[in-house]
Amino acid sequence: MASALTGTVALVTGASSGIGAATARRLADHGAAVALVARRTARLVDLAAEIDKAGGTTLVVEADITDRTQAEAAVQQTVERFGRLDTLVNNAGLMLLGPIAGADPEDWDRMIAVNVNGLLSTTRAALPHLLQAAQDGPRRVADIVNISSIAGRVAWNGYGVYNLTKFGVNGFTESLRQEVTQRHVRVGVIEPGGVATELGSHNKPEIRTEMIDPFYEQTEVLAPEDIADGVAYMVTRPRRTAISELWIMPTDQA
Ligand SMILES: NC(=O)c1ccc[n+]([C@@H]2O[C@H](COP(=O)([O-])OP(=O)(O)OC[C@H]3O[C@@H](n4cnc5c(N)ncnc54)[C@H](OP(=O)(O)O)[C@@H]3O)[C@@H](O)[C@H]2O)c1
Repeated sequence: MASALTGTVALVTGASSGIGAATARRLADHGAAVALVARRTARLVDLAAEIDKAGGTTLVVEADITDRTQAEAAVQQTVERFGRLDTLVNNAGLMLLGPIAGADPEDWDRMIAVNVNGLLSTTRAALPHLLQAAQDGPRRVADIVNISSIAGRVAWNGYGVYNLTKFGVNGFTESLRQEVTQRHVRVGVIEPGGVATELGSHNKPEIRTEMIDPFYEQTEVLAPEDIADGVAYMVTRPRRTAISELWIMPTDQA
């Protein structure tokens, strides 16, 4: 049976865990062929097998999107395999917290490389194909969904450079939306509150003990599927409708 995204192709960065994996499953449920992009190929292969078994269609693409050539190759492989690209979900991200005083600038570089440069490189490579899909694709509309954060709206002590990247993603989303919206490429952002994923696990042990573990112990958090539902909602809207921003929070924080 045809679903909302039947005949379309989606590329999800950071599909090897958390929100990205849940989003890939959701888009496949809606009928999209999905390119799964991340560095950890074994995880992508497992996810692809799961989606394919459920009747979906996938492509595994190992890529470090902080390398512009690899980000471009990921888009190219997707278009070579499926002939088109209708939906880009810029989800890959890294969150390293801590005070600015005494911080390791290499942590900043790593975060900026994924959250900003990776998103830019992937978007730049995908945009010509998305514009084409908006002209002659099955839905005559294409989508970019950027997974930002509540940290793109609200600043907290210790979140400094993560805040910087996500505020940047929000501004970039709005600017790009204005550039391409009349050509029927919809550009939107999702700003989740806390989600139960591996995002905090890359931090130094003292940061996890002081900032991250207490957050998860004291606060209600969302499931990755809650964000995947938001992505699916945005990209399955009729062509005449664009949702430029979704702010998704657990109910006890609204
Ligand atoms: N969890 C939360 O509370 C929360 C809240 C608001 C917003 N977000 C945002 O949601 C997005 C997804 O995060 P998550 O919570 O699902 O975290 P996660 O489980 O840690 O997933 C992060 C994903 O990004 C990928 N990634 C990281 N560096 C990459 C690189 N250089 N190249 C390609 N892929 C890379 C990882 O894959 P590999 O390691 O395999 O490459 C992984 O699949 C992020 O943008 C995050 O900022 C999360």
